[in-house]
Amino acid sequence: SSAPGPIECRGAIAWEAGKPLSVEKVTVGPPAAGEVRVRLAATGVCHTDAYTLSGTDPEGAFPCILGHEGAGVVESVGDGVTSVSVGDHVVLLYIPECRECKFCKSGKTNLCGAIRATQGKGVMPDGTSRLTATCSDRGLLHFMGTSTFCEYAVLPAIAVATVDAAAPLTSVCLLGCGIPTGVGAVRNTCKVEEGATVAVFGLGGVGLSVVQGAVLAGASRIIGVDIDAGKFANATKFGATECVNPKDYGDKPIQEVLVEMTDGGLDYTFEAIGRTATMRSALEAAHKGWGMSCIIGVAGAGEMIQTRPFQLVTGRRWVGTAFGGTKGRTEVPLLVKEYMDGKLKIDECITKKYSLDQINDAFADMHDGKLIRGVIVF
Ligand code: APR
Ligand code: ZN
Repeated sequence: SSAPGPIECRGAIAWEAGKPLSVEKVTVGPPAAGEVRVRLAATGVCHTDAYTLSGTDPEGAFPCILGHEGAGVVESVGDGVTSVSVGDHVVLLYIPECRECKFCKSGKTNLCGAIRATQGKGVMPDGTSRLTATCSDRGLLHFMGTSTFCEYAVLPAIAVATVDAAAPLTSVCLLGCGIPTGVGAVRNTCKVEEGATVAVFGLGGVGLSVVQGAVLAGASRIIGVDIDAGKFANATKFGATECVNPKDYGDKPIQEVLVEMTDGGLDYTFEAIGRTATMRSALEAAHKGWGMSCIIGVAGAGEMIQTRPFQLVTGRRWVGTAFGGTKGRTEVPLLVKEYMDGKLKIDECITKKYSLDQINDAFADMHDGKLIRGVIVF
């Protein structure tokens, strides 16, 4: 067969920080050795995309194509690719799984190191980009190794998870970030056991996924914490047994409220907001002797967490997670199966669908707190 050539398609270019995305023609180069090119079917819009677009992310570099919560169909493969084939349905992974590096081989973490250095620089493993703005022929940087706000994406084959082709890609795209992050924090990072008590700080898309994970783990009590009482209805629908608004308690620290409510604290607490103050509250709401608190939310660059060391000396454990500890190629297909079996809620997380042309509206709605998740359908 003849080698694949460049494809001219449409993408949302982030020309510079703080400016709306510009939907225009993008030329996507062919996959090099070890790479695949994917035709995107859908992508979620996540706060991390907005964070980088805002310009406050010190690692953000422009011009680029943002987006990291995508799913699609493999259009072509480069030399030497054996793990995926043309036509495979895939979820794109911003944390790959090479199964060969020190991290993968450890069995202790999902933080594959195979392409970390180049991914962080916005380029492919060979140091170059596959993305060009067609109008000016200017090169565009990749983002999080995925760049899903474009009709086509090129990724190393180790950064796609092949999933059941019967699963709707417009739904399973959310398995590229938010849902595995929350569910995996419960299952992989904390290993929450049946009957445990859980508190979830922040009831956005990630927090609701923690709630869902806690339900699947058989937690006995799931307390949602949010300063927006408008989030409580969905939290209850996902399985929170109680919801607490810190604003109802005046100056009383929310950890004190939770400790009183639970006879000494929770077995597990999760921070899904990204604020260092609530990270501390979550740690201090964990039970003496065994309580574990997991940081999921992404704090601003350079921010520091604090608590009294006594909190740890007396048996609380402070942990963190990226992508919920999920090993993408191995575990995302299993999550798709759980979804197909009716055990994992994904469609309930999609508040609204948009076309690529409406992508700036999706960002605006996300900023307004209107969305569990917004999904761009190509
Ligand atoms: N106390 C309690 N809840 C708060 C507080 C606070 N001080 N501040 C904000 N919240 C709530 C908001 O009202 C919102 O419901 O936290 C929730 C955060 O939800 P989203 O903004 O929808 O964010 P989400 O997509 O769930 O992501 C949460 O994870 O991936 C990271 O960068 C992401 O750090 C963010 C976090
Ligand atoms: Zn690896």
